[in-house]
Amino acid sequence: MDLNKVFENNENWVKEKLNLDNNYFENLSKGQSPELLYIGCSDSRVTAEELMGAAPGEVFVHRNIANMVSNLDLSSASVINYAVKHLEVKHVIVCGHYYCGGVKAAMDSVDLGILNPWLRNIRDVYRIHHDELDAIADEEEKYKRLVELNVQEQCVNVLKTAEVQIAARKRGLKVHGWVFDIHSGRIIDLKIDVDSILGKIREVYHID
Ligand code: CO
Repeated sequence: MDLNKVFENNENWVKEKLNLDNNYFENLSKGQSPELLYIGCSDSRVTAEELMGAAPGEVFVHRNIANMVSNLDLSSASVINYAVKHLEVKHVIVCGHYYCGGVKAAMDSVDLGILNPWLRNIRDVYRIHHDELDAIADEEEKYKRLVELNVQEQCVNVLKTAEVQIAARKRGLKVHGWVFDIHSGRIIDLKIDVDSILGKIREVYHID
């Protein structure tokens, strides 16, 4: 992609917005109050805002390889904290996608250097759901299921945090697990039963 083209596109976008509303950027500069926090994969094909039809100001976004919410990752932890505690988003969405390179890499026994500890989190998901995954003979189906289970486990990681537990209790914050199907362009709601997960893990992860 030609970088000059990027600036040209940007100019056109500014004109387009100003044509619709002369105060568009002035209003945008006043602040943000997004209702959604979207945690997704860095994959260039899974463009968070575009696939949701979201406008600037509507979604707080965090993306990393394979949409992980790792316990020791200060970046995702800060994003969740800020979005939930300060912006008071109403929904936290973890959105994975089929054909995720990060998930695929975690299924292979290859040394990927600095990526090893990151992908090990996905290998942990495999270990937790070992029985279900090993019962799937078809490799592609197994791969797709691991994508879904990874989303589920990252939702659990979101639910482990104090600010999310408190916001869920006090103001009904909801956590959702989605998968973007690159093949069809559709978002699939995995309908993860967050309440039952919370019930099961409450004893261990409960924070007042
Ligand atoms: Co991915």
